[in-house]
Amino acid sequence: MTADAAGLTGPRFPLSGIALGCDYNPEQWPEQVWEQDVELMREAGVGFVTVGVFSWALLQPDPETFNFDWLDRILDLLHANGIAVDLATATASPPAWLARAHPETLIVDHAGNRLWPGSRQNFCPSSAVFRAAALTLVEALATRYAGHPALAMWHVSNEIGCHNAHCYCDISAAAFRRWLQRRYPDLAALNNAWGTAFWSQWYHDWEEILPPRQTTTWANPTQQLDFARFSSDELLATFTAERDVLRRLSPGVPVTTNFMVMPNVTRMDYWQWAGEQDLISQDHYLDGRLEPVQAQPAELAFCADLTRGLAGGGPWFLMEHSTSAVNWQPVNLAKAPGQLLRNSLSHVARGADAVGFFQWRASAAGGEKFHSALVPHAGTDTKVWREVVELGGVLARVSEAAGTRTQAETAILFDWQAGWALNQGSHPTSLVEYADHPVAIHRALWRLGITVDGVRPGADLSGYRLVVVPTLYLADDACVARLRDFVEAGGQLVITFCSGLVDENDHIRLGGYPGAFRELLGLRSEEIFPLPADCSVHLASRDLAQNGTWTGSLWTELTHLDGAEAIARYLDGPVAGHPAITRNAVGAGAAWYVGTALDDAALTALLNRVAVAAHVQPPVPAPPGVEVVRRSGSQGSYLFVLNHGITATTILTHGYDLVSQKETTGSLTVEPGGSAVVREAY
Ligand code: GAL
Repeated sequence: MTADAAGLTGPRFPLSGIALGCDYNPEQWPEQVWEQDVELMREAGVGFVTVGVFSWALLQPDPETFNFDWLDRILDLLHANGIAVDLATATASPPAWLARAHPETLIVDHAGNRLWPGSRQNFCPSSAVFRAAALTLVEALATRYAGHPALAMWHVSNEIGCHNAHCYCDISAAAFRRWLQRRYPDLAALNNAWGTAFWSQWYHDWEEILPPRQTTTWANPTQQLDFARFSSDELLATFTAERDVLRRLSPGVPVTTNFMVMPNVTRMDYWQWAGEQDLISQDHYLDGRLEPVQAQPAELAFCADLTRGLAGGGPWFLMEHSTSAVNWQPVNLAKAPGQLLRNSLSHVARGADAVGFFQWRASAAGGEKFHSALVPHAGTDTKVWREVVELGGVLARVSEAAGTRTQAETAILFDWQAGWALNQGSHPTSLVEYADHPVAIHRALWRLGITVDGVRPGADLSGYRLVVVPTLYLADDACVARLRDFVEAGGQLVITFCSGLVDENDHIRLGGYPGAFRELLGLRSEEIFPLPADCSVHLASRDLAQNGTWTGSLWTELTHLDGAEAIARYLDGPVAGHPAITRNAVGAGAAWYVGTALDDAALTALLNRVAVAAHVQPPVPAPPGVEVVRRSGSQGSYLFVLNHGITATTILTHGYDLVSQKETTGSLTVEPGGSAVVREAY
């Protein structure tokens, strides 16, 4: 596919169909290899490549000299072979000459250490010198390549904030003060928001204010929260500065930067970033440190569903994932046969209209030489290459589904800012990590086969029947009002423990927990009784057949009902006899509260009960471990069936399977590890 032939599948979507692609770093290889590269790309059906992500030092060997010859040659070669280019601005890895001439562009950590060059992404986002150097390069690239026929989209920097999310240098300190002066009308307002009456922290002059650098004991919580907000905004400003140059010099070509929507990477508020992108692109890597292998498909689905939320439900671009192992975990698990296709199709099922990988050819040198790629070290007579070619074929056939939308009636509210506030410590327990709980709730819904959209606080929820709000420690009034509207209009809302405790300034909402949601939930908790790490409590219920079998951990509360009914009570533990799960009828709907971290089976059973009340169902019934998602649009509907289990499964469906290229008349059997995408017939 060539860029000039590219049609838009959605708003400003740059490629037609569902393209296969990857990061391509030809500068790591002699030019003789390039011809072989493009031949193999054609064999696999590669439709796009991201070029130049880490090439600044090659493109600009010194401040006055640009060297574009190699990039000209590779772009021409790609174009001649029908491969579209996602051209990177190359600003992700500043060259050594910049660090040498301007060491003040390097980031300073929490403890005051300036980090040395020698890796990648070492720049202070507030540095005007870095900004000017980056924009000089972007200006030169955009001037040269705006009209190149291979150019399909622009790729600003790379995973912005991955290694340099927070810089504590003096330049950052000054920028932080300017940001605070825009946020607060005066110092009195800042002192009030930061609660500086505590520990004699009043500020009498803006110049006294610093980033929350390493100090004796807890830094001011609101200072930390505002610094996290500032840092996200400051990194976003590096994106918008480059984007604006590209829009001026290369109008009409979409601009993106690849997000890292993953549970453990939470330092950018992507709800703020999303509206600045021409299209949402995302990188996802399975992480064996976070999830056991059998839970990984659900974690992937969580990230993809949240990415779709960032894309407003429309198509998004999977910029990177891996064909097999990565190199950056303690043990880098290789993918099992079939997993590459299942992982890719799960992203597509959840709205990705392009499937990209890091990277084309496995490096022979450098810090990522053991990272998998489309072309492994061992060459093309390999499982990975055969599966890449298979994927290219499947995506070509599934391309007819491009532009259709994933169907969901259930939403999970996710908020990076609430996570920053919760994870900074000095709370009732340090065992409650924010992202664990949205992921656990999503996993329970995944087991039930229910497709879920990720939504932002304050989102319009009128299109949903069931909304879950996990551990939303911080909630502002607008968010609370939207949730109330949703319930009153007939929605089923589930809020879990450790929610609504503080306002947007991280001040306790007084009068009892969970402050922001007390009224909506019809209850009041007077004291929190967190549980030690190895401790759990048992639950009893009049109307659920689970007496003593459901357990809770991490958190309990001494709760009094104030209009709600108790669905389950604690059998034992510090608040034995008190409500653990409640339900409050409000308007045409109901607000449920779960006051403890339920075990997975209990969470699944409870959510099943609420889903029944909400009339939410899976697209098609399937056994646990079989992922079934529907995408539909004007061209029809497509049922994605991904069997992550170890036994064959049979699904009731009628249509044509684009993977096996067979008619399915009434039922379809998918082998263990297998995948199907059925164009449904009615
Ligand atoms: C991503 C990054 C790539 C590569 C990859 C390895 O975070 O964008 O450049 O480092 O990880 O998994």
